[in-house]
Amino acid sequence: MVLLIGASGLLGTEIVRNLTSKGVELKLSTRNPQKLAKEQPGVDRIHYLDITRPDTYSTSFSGVDTVIISIHSLFGIGENSSPKVDGKGLIQLINYMASLGNQIKHVVLISILNPEKFLEIEFFRYKLEAERKLISSGLPFSIVQPAAFMELHIAELMGKDVLNNRKVKLMGNGNLPCGFVSIKDVAQLIEQILNHGPTYSRMPMCSPDKLSRREVIEKYAEKLGVKSNVFALKPGTVLKLSSIMRFFHPGLARMMQMAGTMDSADTTEDAASTYNRFQLEPTRIDEFIDSHILNYRRGNFRV
Ligand SMILES: NC(=O)c1ccc[n+]([C@@H]2O[C@H](COP(=O)([O-])OP(=O)(O)OC[C@H]3O[C@@H](n4cnc5c(N)ncnc54)[C@H](OP(=O)(O)O)[C@@H]3O)[C@@H](O)[C@H]2O)c1
Repeated sequence: MVLLIGASGLLGTEIVRNLTSKGVELKLSTRNPQKLAKEQPGVDRIHYLDITRPDTYSTSFSGVDTVIISIHSLFGIGENSSPKVDGKGLIQLINYMASLGNQIKHVVLISILNPEKFLEIEFFRYKLEAERKLISSGLPFSIVQPAAFMELHIAELMGKDVLNNRKVKLMGNGNLPCGFVSIKDVAQLIEQILNHGPTYSRMPMCSPDKLSRREVIEKYAEKLGVKSNVFALKPGTVLKLSSIMRFFHPGLARMMQMAGTMDSADTTEDAASTYNRFQLEPTRIDEFIDSHILNYRRGNFRV
């Protein structure tokens, strides 16, 4: 039985859709089982699990031999802050799985593209620590390292504004190539990995396009025959605002520090090894934008 931790998330929802359509039996975990049961009426096994509280783990793990971990709490504050969830929580969870002896035959950890590249960002350090902990735990594993999700970072944060003739707000100049991947590709890779078994490797996922955020906005504008309208905060300003925001909303401050820091680097990565290994065709940005525009015109606001 496969347990998916983070089933309510953007990627988690796509993993559930894809795996249930292939007949894979799933157990889902969340901190809000009632809400998830409404969103996933086809899945019977939904359990409460909070990774910051090891006393909530055992019911979800009963009868489980494969675990997919697709969680983060970048914006979280207080008990749900990133240090408590992405830091301590993930390590506790890995220790717990290792303590189950031979029960767990495969752990699929959703990490992030290139965690070594941005060690000044706390979130990337947590992701790297979790990867290292899993690798050294003795648990059979596969680590997926996705770039920014197209459905959020392209459609929701940029495309939607162009489609609605609004100003697109950028945190940073948005001039350097940015790595993106569709959640559909990540969900497909996970399906393949489950069939394959533990890969004992870290698999980057990033569309081969090398477009900057501004170029993505231009593409929408061109396809729609409109003029793009962008408001961009300089990365230095974003970082200064982030230090002030720390006192009011540490989660938002973290997100701003991440955006301001990553704006000055090419965040794309050659992920051909992953796509070739599993014979997957990466979704291209152009194709993604076309499908977003088409869905939008048909009144379907989800990509
Ligand atoms: N978003 C991106 O662009 C992006 C890019 C690269 C990698 N990733 C990685 O992909 C994975 C999924 O990201 P996403 O964007 O799909 O996430 P998301 O939509 O923000 O959802 C976050 C998930 O984390 C779960 N969660 C948060 N705190 C938790 C806790 N204390 N205990 C248990 N579950 C908790 C939430 O579950 P409940 O609220 O239901 O409990 C929710 O399902 C993460 O590992 C993320 O770092 C994301």
